[in-house]
Amino acid sequence: MLDIRLYGDPVLREVTKEVTEIDGALVQLVDKMVATMYAAPGSGLAANQVGVSKRLFVYDAGDGPVAIVNPRIAESDGEWTYEEGCLSVPGLSWEITRPNAVHLVGLDLNGKEISIETDEFEGRVFQHEMDHLDGILLIERLDDDQRKKARKILAKRADAATAPDPDGLRRLLGFSR
Ligand code: NI
Repeated sequence: MLDIRLYGDPVLREVTKEVTEIDGALVQLVDKMVATMYAAPGSGLAANQVGVSKRLFVYDAGDGPVAIVNPRIAESDGEWTYEEGCLSVPGLSWEITRPNAVHLVGLDLNGKEISIETDEFEGRVFQHEMDHLDGILLIERLDDDQRKKARKILAKRADAATAPDPDGLRRLLGFSR
């Protein structure tokens, strides 16, 4: 199992690099990412969330695990509001409005071109993971009011993570999970 990098880790802010070679090491990484995603549990996981700054993500929108290499959103349309969370910002979620329908292109693990037109949940997963690969966390997709509140909670968590814990504050803030 791989460690999921949390909010504050600089690798989450990196614009990841194109994959230039799909080799055995990359396939192994994908296997570990899928296992890590299911164990979390989550619906998607970007490579930089496990510390690998490459353009690659895995997801499962209900039809089993899929890996997409060098993904790109070719087109998006409409608008949809959905409650979104992130394994790198555990225990928090927000209503976020993004385009509804997306057309995602990329490569599979055989280097074959993938083209998926979808919407709603799967479309949302794609947009969320694409953001990760561009160094964007969902905090940046919040409105001003949501963001202020989120920053407060995350600052408290950062304090709690470094302070002694006589009152069980870490547990209250969800660290034990
Ligand atoms: Ni995420």
